[in-house]
Amino acid sequence: MLNTPHRVLVIPGDGIGVEVTGAMLEVLDAVGLDWTLDVRRDINSETWLKSQTGIPEPLMAELKSGRYGAILFGAIGDPRAPEGVVERATLLRLRFELNLALNVRPLRLPAGLPSVLASGNRIDAVVVRENTEGAYSGASGSIHRGSEHEVAVTTSISTRTGARAALAHGFRLAKERRGDMCLVHKANVLQDEGRLWRSEADAQARENPGVVARYMHADAAAMRLITHPQEFDVIVTDNLFGDLLTDLGAALSGGIGLAASSNVNPWTNLALFEPIHGTAPDIAGKGLANPLAMIRCLGMCARHLGEMTVAQRILDATDAAAVRTGARTSDYLEAVVGALG
Ligand code: IPM
Ligand code: MG
Repeated sequence: MLNTPHRVLVIPGDGIGVEVTGAMLEVLDAVGLDWTLDVRRDINSETWLKSQTGIPEPLMAELKSGRYGAILFGAIGDPRAPEGVVERATLLRLRFELNLALNVRPLRLPAGLPSVLASGNRIDAVVVRENTEGAYSGASGSIHRGSEHEVAVTTSISTRTGARAALAHGFRLAKERRGDMCLVHKANVLQDEGRLWRSEADAQARENPGVVARYMHADAAAMRLITHPQEFDVIVTDNLFGDLLTDLGAALSGGIGLAASSNVNPWTNLALFEPIHGTAPDIAGKGLANPLAMIRCLGMCARHLGEMTVAQRILDATDAAAVRTGARTSDYLEAVVGALG
């Protein structure tokens, strides 16, 4: 499938997603990229509450037909809607139906920003999170809801195709970086899924003799990320472990307000870029949200679409702004635009 690289879909979403996307669009204007933007402000919890529509069907069809080269996504979720329902109708639907099987989340503390760790240890790692399977597969149900006899089940699903794609990307990244790939799972308890992931990692390790391939249980990895973050280069992991570890890793990398991610279909190259943070209803509308993660998403998107020079300028400017503001104040946008000038 051929994507149209210069047509980009923008979905601000809810809460601070709207604010950070606004800031990102200002930066996009300032760097002069000639992309055709379709900004869909109608995709949010408000719309869902009125009409139970998440991603409208015609847009879904256009996305599948290759009309867009990339998607920039703010954040989704609103406490007025039933928990998780709008997320499933929008972000998760895009991940699943567009087969965005890889969620790539860089964890890097910009030089010049202090580490939150007492040890001062620094982190420069990338997490490749499998993005459409595991506990997120939607294979779940319940009976006798609300009664004493309630039964609920969520099945975690791993496929060899999914594990293979995530690991292949992890090995590829490790070769370009410091040559270390650590598979994180919980193979001592989730034995069947663990066996599948480990056997696939072993097979790919034999094809990649230049990469040190390691394995770590997820609980140990959470601890090790705090005590020895500098030991990690590339982490490949299952969907749910990746969700948890990347919030933890973001806190080690200047905070959740700096953490950006890409969701990529490795077969068509279509990608969705989103900050790791959520909609933060408690600070939404107050001008307090840090837009740096969303602006970093723009940099990652530009790199994905081949605009290498602009991409680097944006990423460098967000680093400079993070350092200048200490990633703590609310004048980030001004700082980014200043650094671009
Ligand atoms: C993330 C988010 C999502 C997830 C939510 C919003 C469904 O936490 O992108 O990490 O759990 O994947
Ligand atoms: Mg998350």
